[in-house]
Amino acid sequence: YRIDKGEYRHFMAKEIHEQPEVVGRTLAHYVDMAQGRVVLPESLPFDFAKLSRVYITACGTAFYAGLVARYWFEQVARLPVEIDVASEARYREAPLEKDGLTLVISQSGETADTLASLRYAKSQGQHTLSVVNVPTSTIARESSVVMPTLAGPEIGVASTKAFSCQLTVLLCLAIAAGRARGTLDAAGERRLVDALIKAPGLMAEALTHEAAIEGLAREVSKARDVLYLGRGTSYPMALEGALKLKEISYIHAEGYAAGELKHGPIALIDESVPVIVIAPHDAVFEKTVSNMQEVAARGGRIVLIGDAKGAAEHGLDTLATFTMPAVNATVAPIVYAVPIQLLAYHTAVFMGKDVDQPRNLAKSVTVE
Ligand code: AGP
Repeated sequence: YRIDKGEYRHFMAKEIHEQPEVVGRTLAHYVDMAQGRVVLPESLPFDFAKLSRVYITACGTAFYAGLVARYWFEQVARLPVEIDVASEARYREAPLEKDGLTLVISQSGETADTLASLRYAKSQGQHTLSVVNVPTSTIARESSVVMPTLAGPEIGVASTKAFSCQLTVLLCLAIAAGRARGTLDAAGERRLVDALIKAPGLMAEALTHEAAIEGLAREVSKARDVLYLGRGTSYPMALEGALKLKEISYIHAEGYAAGELKHGPIALIDESVPVIVIAPHDAVFEKTVSNMQEVAARGGRIVLIGDAKGAAEHGLDTLATFTMPAVNATVAPIVYAVPIQLLAYHTAVFMGKDVDQPRNLAKSVTVE
């Protein structure tokens, strides 16, 4: 692996652009493309069919990947999920049943809180499955089974390609769980896998619209506060969008479940607060549209990241719409990671910030 920026100004830009390739490589490791089936690279020391739930724990962006996976495990495999940030999970003393499953997610495999949560799960007699990017890491070594992300070294402090590869592996795991639990038949699996293998091409397509995101970034860079909204899997994507923006541009950003808007954050809406709405055309799209109307009625400036179908149908009054390619609703988070990352990146570059080494942050948090 060559560790240089190549033709890019920053590692983060290079890593964003590498995503079609590394997601494709990760997929090739987990999917039999011809058969339209998930084939896990390791055999599992537990049976998904026998689990009553799965516990997920991680920090930061890896935690948000876990939040997306909660929807997948619950919807695709009807497997209940409990999830917490590792800094809480390690001290909560949650009763974890013997022979249950704890799933930890970490790019570095060295995050102190995530490692401590893994050790706690082991002390309770749980099986541990880690989704890690560094296969020689402590978390990988100490887990009962490791499902690697094949993102390659991630140098930028803001996690990008590791996140989309984590999502890819997690969706493959949810599909494997669905098959084992009888909630996904062969035809259903094939449909989902066929949609999943289109993700790298759609990410590449999203990347070709980078100039439009740069224009949006110019607007966002003037803001003091930014809200991100989404429903369903777009809710954790809103959290991730806000984290990405705040960590590299230092603009205050909050992610909210769109339905929570009227329970508080709507008080913040005025023309100075851009509201980034992540809304692929999925089962909850119409609900998100009504939230956008509430924002528009209060003079809020909406930036919609959605597909052409959704925006056109509703003639929404937005400051800008970033049009994504049409994508299967389950797979959407993997593809929507791209515009979210590009928006944070270009905003920070526009503001002259040190994108690869933001202040106060370390790539790997190995102390508590
Ligand atoms: C994301 O952009 C971060 N800088 C941070 O939240 C990171 O995801 C978190 O520290 C977890 O790291 P890990 O994946 O190496 O465990």
